[in-house]
Parts: sequence; C-alpha cells; structure tokens
Amino acid sequence: MSVTYCADTQTFYLDGKDVTYAFCLTAGYPEHLYFGKKIPHDSLLHMRTGGAAEGTIPFGSTGRNMHTIPSELTNYGRGDYREPAILVENPSGDRISELLYEGHEILSEKPKISGMPSMDGGETLVLRLKDKLTGFQADLYYTAYDDSNVIARRAVYRNGTNGKAILRRAYSFSMGLPGNGYRMLSLHGAWCRERRMEIIPLHHGVVSIDSKRLSSSAALNPFMGILSEHADENQGEVYGVSLVYSSSYVLKAEGTSGGDTLLTGGINDFDFHWDLAPGEEFETPEVVLAFSDCGLGGMSRAFHDAYRNHLINKQYVKKPRPLVLNNWEGTHFNFTLDKLKAIIDGAAGTGIDTFVLDDGWFGYSRDNEKSSMGDWHIVNPQKLPGGFAPLVEHIHSKGMKFGLWFEPEMIGPNSDLLKNHPDYAITIDGREPCLGRCQMMMDLTRKDVRDYIVETVNRVIRENNISYVKWDFNRNATETYSRGRAPERQAEFAHRYALGLYDLCERIVEANPQVFFEGCSAGGARFDPAMLHYFSQIWTSDNTDADDRTCIQYGTSMVYPLSAMSCHVSHSPNITTKRPISYKTRSDIAHLGATGYELDASDWTDEDRARTAEEIKEYKSCQDLILEGDLYRLDNPMTSNYFSFLVVAKDQSRAILTTYRRQLQAGGEPKRIRLLGLDPQKNYRVRELDLVASGSTLMNVGLVTRFPSPLGDYQTLKFHLDVE
Ligand code: GLA
Repeated sequence: MSVTYCADTQTFYLDGKDVTYAFCLTAGYPEHLYFGKKIPHDSLLHMRTGGAAEGTIPFGSTGRNMHTIPSELTNYGRGDYREPAILVENPSGDRISELLYEGHEILSEKPKISGMPSMDGGETLVLRLKDKLTGFQADLYYTAYDDSNVIARRAVYRNGTNGKAILRRAYSFSMGLPGNGYRMLSLHGAWCRERRMEIIPLHHGVVSIDSKRLSSSAALNPFMGILSEHADENQGEVYGVSLVYSSSYVLKAEGTSGGDTLLTGGINDFDFHWDLAPGEEFETPEVVLAFSDCGLGGMSRAFHDAYRNHLINKQYVKKPRPLVLNNWEGTHFNFTLDKLKAIIDGAAGTGIDTFVLDDGWFGYSRDNEKSSMGDWHIVNPQKLPGGFAPLVEHIHSKGMKFGLWFEPEMIGPNSDLLKNHPDYAITIDGREPCLGRCQMMMDLTRKDVRDYIVETVNRVIRENNISYVKWDFNRNATETYSRGRAPERQAEFAHRYALGLYDLCERIVEANPQVFFEGCSAGGARFDPAMLHYFSQIWTSDNTDADDRTCIQYGTSMVYPLSAMSCHVSHSPNITTKRPISYKTRSDIAHLGATGYELDASDWTDEDRARTAEEIKEYKSCQDLILEGDLYRLDNPMTSNYFSFLVVAKDQSRAILTTYRRQLQAGGEPKRIRLLGLDPQKNYRVRELDLVASGSTLMNVGLVTRFPSPLGDYQTLKFHLDVE
C-alpha cells in the first residue's frame, strides 16, 4: 500500500521506495508535514509549526494564519501572501479562492493526463478541494513508487461556479519545506553549452526560473534542485523538482517570512489566462518531486529510475539502441547520392546499424537554411535524383536501416508550404515576422495545421521504410497569436502550443511504433521529461567536442539518465571548437550515452574501420549498464581538471569507470578515485589494473590511476570491474 489515510490524525502518508510524503488537514486545509526518508506512520501533528501569529496578517475561516502553513496548494486572498499556486477570476470578478477538503479517493491505477505526457503508476491519491462559496474546485493527484524515490503530483482545476471562471495562474503544485537556508541548483545554458550547473543561496523572497519561449529551452531546464545546508554531490538532503512539460513554464522557491521555504510552479502564468465555462476542467502538467539523503547523486538516481521505469517509451527504454551514423557534421547540406553511398560504405561492417540522413534532403533547393522548410513532400531532385529508393536500397544492401531528419513544427518563407498555406505560420497580419534560422513556426494550436503535418510526415515515413526519425525544433516562438481564436483567448496560446505538440507526437510517434524517434532542438534546447516520453533519446548538444561534452553530459545527468542522451563521436579537430582530441577520448565520452557517429566515414581506412568495430564491440559489451545502471558522478569537470562517471549494474555485479583528464600537469600526477555504489562484501577484479579488491576497499581506499604522461591533454582511462 503506498497511500494510507489515518482518520484519527487526518493525515495522508505516501510511501515510495525509501521515502515518505505526508500531509494533514488543518481545518480542511491541506498542510504539508514531511517529505524525506521513509518513516513509520506516527502522528506528525506535533510538527505543525504553521499558524503562528504575525502582526499584520489577518486570519481566515480556518482561524489560523494561512501565510505560515506549509501548503499543498497555496491560495490567494485569504491571508496568504506567498506565491499562490492558483489565481482564479470568479464570475463576480473577484480573485479569491479558499480551497478546502471535500473528500478523497484512492485509485488503484494512476490515470493519464488527457493530452499531456505523464508517468504511469499504481495507487494514486486524489484529494478533492472546493471553495465553499464559489464552488470552484481543485483535485490534487499524488502517486508514490516502490522502485524510485519520487512523488508525482499534479492538479486539475474545475469550474464549479455558475459562470465563466478565468484562470490567471494554474500551477501544478506547491510544497512547503521546513526552515530556510537552502541553496538552489539550476541548469542554465545556451546553444552548444547546455545544462551548466549553477548553485545559489535562497533568500527571503522569491527565486524563480522560467521560460517564455514556448519551449522548455536550453536557457533554463525545467528543473530545480534544493540543497540543504551541507549537501553536495554525495551527501546531505536534496529535493528535486522536475516538470514534465515542454512549453513556457515557471518554478519558484520562496523564503517566507514564517521561516519556511515554499516551492511552487507549473505552466508559466506570464502571458497566460484560460477561460473555463461552468463544469469545464483544466489539467496541469505533472511535476515529479525527488528526495535524496545522499546528495545530488541520490537525487539523480531517483529521477533516472523514475523516468526509465515510468515515463520513457517501454518498447525502447531498456533495449539496445540503434547505433547510428548521422551525416550532419560530415556533410552539412552539401551531399549527393554518391557521397552518401560512400559514407555508408565506409561505415559498413563496423557495427553501425542505421544511417540517418540529416537536413538538406527535401524541397527543390534546400542547400542552406534559407529555403524549402516544410516541403517534406519533395525529395531534393538534384541531390537525390530518383527519390529515396536508390539510397534506401544501398543502405539495406549493407545490412543497415534508414533514418531521416524532420523539423515538423516549422515553415520557411521560401517554401511551397507557405505559398499554399500562408495562414499556417505563426504570424500577425501587418507585422513583419521575426525569423529564427530563416524560418517561422507552424500554428500547432490549430487542428487543421496538425492534420496537415501528420499526413505529410506519416506518408514519408510509410512510403520509405524509415526506421529512425530525428525530430528537430530549431527556433523559439515570437508573435504568439493564432488566427481564428477569439481575442480574449489569445493568452491561451503557449499552453495550447504544448497541447498541439503532444497531439502531433501522439499521432506521429505513437502511430509509428516500429520507428525509433530521437528528439532534437538546435542541439539540446528542448531536453525535458515530456519530450523524453515520446523521444527515448534526445540529441544532447550540437557541441560534440569531447571536452565540452563532459560538462554538458555531467549537467544533463542531474535529471536525465545516460540512455536519454544522444552522444556521437565526431571529427577532430571539432567543427565547432576546432579542438583536436584523440579518437579514443572522443569515443569514450560519446559511449557514456546512447552512442553513434556524426562524421564523414567515406575516407575511413581499413584501420579506421577496425578501430571503430572494436570500440562498438566494447560499447555493446557494456550497453546494459548505460541503459539500466546506477550512475555515480565522481569528478565534476566544471570544478576540476577531471571528469569521472562510474556506472554500476543494479545487481552490483559489474561496473565501468570512465575518467577523463583535461590537462596534463608536468611531472605526472597519480589520480586517486574512491568508488561508490559497489557491494562492500564482494570482491571485484579491476580488469585494466590486474587488481582484486573488495567493494569496501575500493569505496573507502579507492584506486590509483595513472595517465601515461606522453598522452598529453584531453585523455581518458576506462576501467571494467567484475565481481570475482
Ligand atoms: C540542428 C540540429 C543539428 C542538425 C541541424 C540541421 O542544429 O541540432 O543536429 O540536425 O539542425 O539543420
């Protein structure tokens, strides 16, 4: 039983793998009591600190100071001045709500959110709240998991009033944390430097991260880590907040005057409102809350388990992934059929099993980003005379599968698509549209636009024996406006775009279960849990430089499992950074994810092919660890000269350790590494060191690795550990 209600104390307990989440009803108001390490169901009422008097604050009908009660859903207008989770304009025009307990239900199965991706799950608590005066309602959903340390939450708002209600804000949750003095981790970035870590102290007042781009964005991932005072990578209490959403969002942490910390957020209420007719509901995206008492590492493993077991496509999540060669960095737009055949010939026989043709294959003149965007119905006649057939035949003759790049959400100024359907683009009449990468976005809020995309893309997939699709999204939104929607409903646009996108994914991704889908957004600019639900892996960054990748992959792993990150071996010197890095290092770093190749293999010699075949064999021998293992981050490349990832099998029988040294330091420098996550009682053989030691010794004493000096900068060492 993961949900328990104790009627005596009016307390709800949710028990996950090693965590308990508890809240009680205080005069009908859901008051947060605890989220932390698993505890028995003792009464926690003695912990209620909320409600203390504060000079200027008026009391509501509960007879308590609402402003200081750690709340499961903060309201506005009844003496709570913290960030409200809900702000609704009632038919009378007032914006007051007081959502109090009406009842609850325990469902045996977690219901899906209609039109939005969410985790699956078992026993689920639905807490029904209602404003007794207006009739407005909120249902709060809670699910705990016996295989991961997370709680999934969301809210459904229902207009139970007798007139129109307008949601001005409709967040997914709020949760009070005891005390203050926390620090907040965010993952910020930009093109080619996604998900860098930043940790700042929280203060009294609100700290928020958000997106206003209609995309979860590379600027700030929809994630917030809350670290208690002494927490770090491997110790201390950490909370994680991860939003399953891909459009404009906000997450907030507020140090309150009552001395506590309030977390809240969901759909960004900047430029948002939503009309609800009587009886209508509004579903919010899911938020996944993690707890760890062993630092950020434990928080990450909680998210990895939760997303692998309950969010990402079950058909693919733990299966060996297609091992692709993508031609983008090898050719960009500049290819011919012969060139592609030569690349495929170069890769044949190495273990690469899928050739992915990137941008440039469609329209009459897609020779750069200025033309043809959206013309998926035309295979470029200059580059691929005769259409795909000769290419696909060649790919198949080499025992490989065919993958193709699309950017289904976009429309270009020089395209047949825009000529035929000028109204499909997101634009405002009379206003020159802002172009991003020479293109505009399609109005996915409209069903006819989505129908057109679904039909066109599905036809190309169906008719060309396609096994793999890379779905790109290369710009953020401007002129957010939909023709045909009433003026007073235009601020629904950002969320309606998300709903349109998910509908598109369902009708393309889910309608083609035989096709493996990879997500992409100018690299990793839409790397979020909702996209991961549809795309089992996402292109992590356009920056394939192995040194930069150590930072990007380290930051991404805070929330997302290794198997979610597409990581390709590319040319040296790197096309973006011009940094030369050895083949071994490039492949060792790229093998810490869903690996592949992103280069021109047409000039590969037999020696190159043999080396690649060897690397792929090695990758495949450890792939189960990448797909299912527990990740321990041992060295942080953002704060040290090293990067070390240790991946341990769930049964602790095997592990791989990859260590990277950025710069050689003259005089040599042995590197001591203490391992984590092993079975202390068992003996492990470290293959490369010819060493046998107990897990206990390897974790407490560690091992010493030596990078041979002549190797110079940017080097990796890899160690395989097997239980004896
Ligand atoms: C984006 C992607 C790249 C590539 C190009 C093609 O930048 O991130 O991997 O597909 O588009 O235009």
